[in-house]
Amino acid sequence: MSKRSATDPRVPNHVAIIMDGNGRWAESRGLARLRGHRQGMEAARRVTRAAGELGIGYLTLYAFSLENWNRPKAEVKELMSLLDNYLEREIDGLMENDVRVRVIGRLERLSDDLRERVESGVARTRENQGLNVIFALSYGGRAEIVDAARGLLRDAELGKFDPEQLDEKTFAAYLYDSEIPDPDLLIRTGSELRVSNFLLWQIAYAEIHTTDVMWPDFDAADLEAALVDYASRERRFGLTREQVQSGSGKHS
Ligand code: FPP
Repeated sequence: MSKRSATDPRVPNHVAIIMDGNGRWAESRGLARLRGHRQGMEAARRVTRAAGELGIGYLTLYAFSLENWNRPKAEVKELMSLLDNYLEREIDGLMENDVRVRVIGRLERLSDDLRERVESGVARTRENQGLNVIFALSYGGRAEIVDAARGLLRDAELGKFDPEQLDEKTFAAYLYDSEIPDPDLLIRTGSELRVSNFLLWQIAYAEIHTTDVMWPDFDAADLEAALVDYASRERRFGLTREQVQSGSGKHS
């Protein structure tokens, strides 16, 4: 697949990925799970580069879920140190490639050091105009909705808006980063067919592509295959095929 313009409707503007299968990749090779996460980090680097080249605007990576805090302490520690390492090593390269880093999640649960590293990466790349890479870190979809509701209730109490006027657009403005458009394509690697509490609000109309490829093996060709699959879908947003094809009707 050659590079396409960012306005080509066959290229999803926002791709979100559930990077699953690191542990199984390692275990099937008789290796420690950490080795799978390390290779997973390399896959994240490859895919970020490929996403920029393919003209994708936003790439969200599910790097650590709220549920992942319940993994064995040693694995949590390893994952945190991998993330820290990634940000330390990659930030210069991301700057060179005009990549903007964003983060969504309950960052208050991260260590002070990691949170500072994350915040400094976000601040340093803020003016970049190329690909947006969003790390979902200490993230849960339900938690995000609860956190948005908290903010809404606070503002309603302050009289900033009338609850009777609440609509989807207003609600969405309270999500972690309301500048990020909803994902067009959700990819899940590693054979499982679950959403796993990822971007629950935002994936309402996302196309879903799953693959048996384990995340550490996922590469540019697998991303392109997902984009080819996406390009074959007819996105109807609740409309009939006739309405979509004639260009009438309105997205609900
Ligand atoms: C799922 O594999 C993956 C994770 C819980 C963590 C994802 C982390 C990385 C890819 C490494 C760092 C990433 C970045 C973006 C720097 P799993 O352990 O649940 O695999 P399993 O289902 O086979 O056990």
